[in-house]
Amino acid sequence: MSFDTTAANRNAGRFADRDELWLFGYGSLIYKAGFDYIERKPATITGWQRRFWQGSHDHRGTPAAPGRVATLVEAPGAVCAGMAYRITPAVFGHLDHREKNGYLRFSTAMTFADGSHDEGLVYIATADNEAWLGDAPIDAIARQISASHGPSGPNRDYLLNLAEALRALDADDAHVFAIEARLREIEAEHGG
Ligand code: BEZ
Repeated sequence: MSFDTTAANRNAGRFADRDELWLFGYGSLIYKAGFDYIERKPATITGWQRRFWQGSHDHRGTPAAPGRVATLVEAPGAVCAGMAYRITPAVFGHLDHREKNGYLRFSTAMTFADGSHDEGLVYIATADNEAWLGDAPIDAIARQISASHGPSGPNRDYLLNLAEALRALDADDAHVFAIEARLREIEAEHGG
């Protein structure tokens, strides 16, 4: 798979015929949109779990020293909490560019707080993309995040903003909270 997924997403044409649709956000989209949307509300998707297994060469790291950002991996029965945005397809171009470092569009069912469901879109970086880093011990992930910086800022800010946003949603995410706790210990050890 090519490093830049912009063309693959444009060619896939998923949902382009729709006037509006739901986009499920599980990473930075939970706390910051950066695009126009019609409405947003908390949602969950089932069968996926959030993991800091995707490398970031263009936002929270560099090609020489990639950071780590969230993607989703399949986990039967797991429930992943996030934020859903009702958008128009015009937003795709912005997102395809912003998330060009390995993320592809997938369709997903999402569930809202009132129990209603809808079909929508989610960007996922899968293990076959070139920026994929995969699993590592929590300590190693936290150290990499602590050390990484990119054009969008320190990698630690991405992690801490995400953890705070998940708590605001009352969402439990043992993986994210374990990395956050280890990062805080590492920073305390270094007088941060
Ligand atoms: C997010 O949910 O924040 C997200 C959006 C696009 C790509 C990766 C993650």
